[in-house]
Amino acid sequence: MSQLTDEINRRRTFAIISHPDAGKTTLTEKLLLFGGAIHIAGAVKSNKIKKTATSDWMEIEKQRGISVATSVMGFNYGDYKINILDTPGHQDFAEDTYRTLTAVDSVIIVVDVAKGVEQQTRKLMEVCRMRNTPVIIFVNKLDREGRDPFEILDELEAELKINVRPLSWPINIGAKFKGVYNIYENSLDLFTPNKQKVSERVEIDDVNDSRIDDAVGTQDAEKLREDLELIEGVYPEFDTADYLSGQVAPVFFGSALNTFGVKELLDCFVQIAPTPRPVQAEERKIDPTEENFSGFVFKIHANMDPNHRSCIAFVKVCSGKFERNAPYKHVRSGKVMKFAAPTAFMAQKKNIVDEAYPGDIVGIPDTGNFKIGDTLTSGEQLHFKGLPSFSPEMFKYIENTDPMKSKQLEKGIQQLMDEGVAQLFTNQFNGRKIIGTVGQLQFEVIQYRLLHEYGAQCRWEPLSMFKACWIESDDAEALAAFKKRKHQFMATDREGRDVFMADSNYVLQMAQADFPKIRFHFSSEF
Ligand code: G4P
Repeated sequence: MSQLTDEINRRRTFAIISHPDAGKTTLTEKLLLFGGAIHIAGAVKSNKIKKTATSDWMEIEKQRGISVATSVMGFNYGDYKINILDTPGHQDFAEDTYRTLTAVDSVIIVVDVAKGVEQQTRKLMEVCRMRNTPVIIFVNKLDREGRDPFEILDELEAELKINVRPLSWPINIGAKFKGVYNIYENSLDLFTPNKQKVSERVEIDDVNDSRIDDAVGTQDAEKLREDLELIEGVYPEFDTADYLSGQVAPVFFGSALNTFGVKELLDCFVQIAPTPRPVQAEERKIDPTEENFSGFVFKIHANMDPNHRSCIAFVKVCSGKFERNAPYKHVRSGKVMKFAAPTAFMAQKKNIVDEAYPGDIVGIPDTGNFKIGDTLTSGEQLHFKGLPSFSPEMFKYIENTDPMKSKQLEKGIQQLMDEGVAQLFTNQFNGRKIIGTVGQLQFEVIQYRLLHEYGAQCRWEPLSMFKACWIESDDAEALAAFKKRKHQFMATDREGRDVFMADSNYVLQMAQADFPKIRFHFSSEF
């Protein structure tokens, strides 16, 4: 096997997603602990944008700086190289999360045993389903009172619309929680609450081993045997191929805070999770094992220091080997560029790297050359697909409040849009600029950054809109008729494409019924 194939085969690039508070940060931290990437629990905590921070913008700004370092966490675990891509916890940054999901090969979903499937998890799962991303589910907080595990499995299946297959099973829950039986490996882990250390493992031969009775008592051992029998009866044998094609989600139980059930998850994960997968470009499918380098920008992070308007562009390596100082083509501009200081993200530290492989993320310092979705190659004309913008749901007119600074405002808006902070539309009727976001927080972020990074001042004017959708039609006359009828509600996006701004769900439905020849799209990629 070539060195390239070796490097690809040992890589696992994934994201952990959850509804805020289910335990994503805690689980991430425990995985890093196992990888020896950090030495004490609590080290990742500060990465999180607390859900209470709806208007505490300074706090977010502070945390944004920290989150550059923790956006990607790479570490070695045995022979494997693991890359965890962080996703923002706050739902107002959901768009960031969607984009991050385009750069991972699989996902771990964390669910709180007491709360079950929550709203944000449901939404993120939809994105995974769209892309057939393989998913593993970790049911967390078993040390607390929660729901019956069978009930949770049913709910996961119904709410996440995916078949599930338990690969570990809890012995009791809450105060009586005694441990997790590892179905995947036929072993038993006993529960000794400990936030720093890994729990104790009892070696057993199979589920009838009397050492289980000795460890947890006969009553619980019997209950476990009954449960396992039921599982074997109800759920088909676990098949890795079904997991890899996104048909079945293996489920693990545990307590991230107590480092319980985490190693079972990690050990199984490295064995079954996909290696970097082929990526679809507009022109063709690119296989990671191809000699020539290719990659795309999935995230741009602005510098914290307002005096240096530099950013870091996060590039996911899709094929070949990325090398420092090698000439690469920036496909959108046609320019050839060399990168003298690309960084890798190992153990929360940024280091300059000489090379990177498919599955890896490279941070490239940038001063405004990159846009989200840009492709870099060894020379081939490629455009990676799959970085859609979703229809925003909140809209405001943006107004300049300092006429002397209109150029700065213009530039600031352009660059923030390139970073993917929000979407810009221009109303075709009155020429006014509209910013569309998925959450209130973005408006604050934009206003703050325009002032502090560009010296421009803006004010928001309310705009009551339901949804912006991209429209197209094969019938030019029908399209013209639609645009004429709805001229007050027509806008263009930054690429000049037609966007219909529906002011209510009713209006949107009526428009869809009245104009059957028009196609309405709810994401920018169609
Ligand atoms: P998030 O990133 O998904 O938002 O969740 P995070 O890991 O921050 O966890 C949310 C809360 O749940 C934290 O408590 C955390 O300590 C707790 N938690 C995580 N895993 C477990 C578990 O297995 N069992 C129990 N009982 N609790 C768990 P917090 O009070 O919000 O934060 P902190 O003050 O403890 O840091």
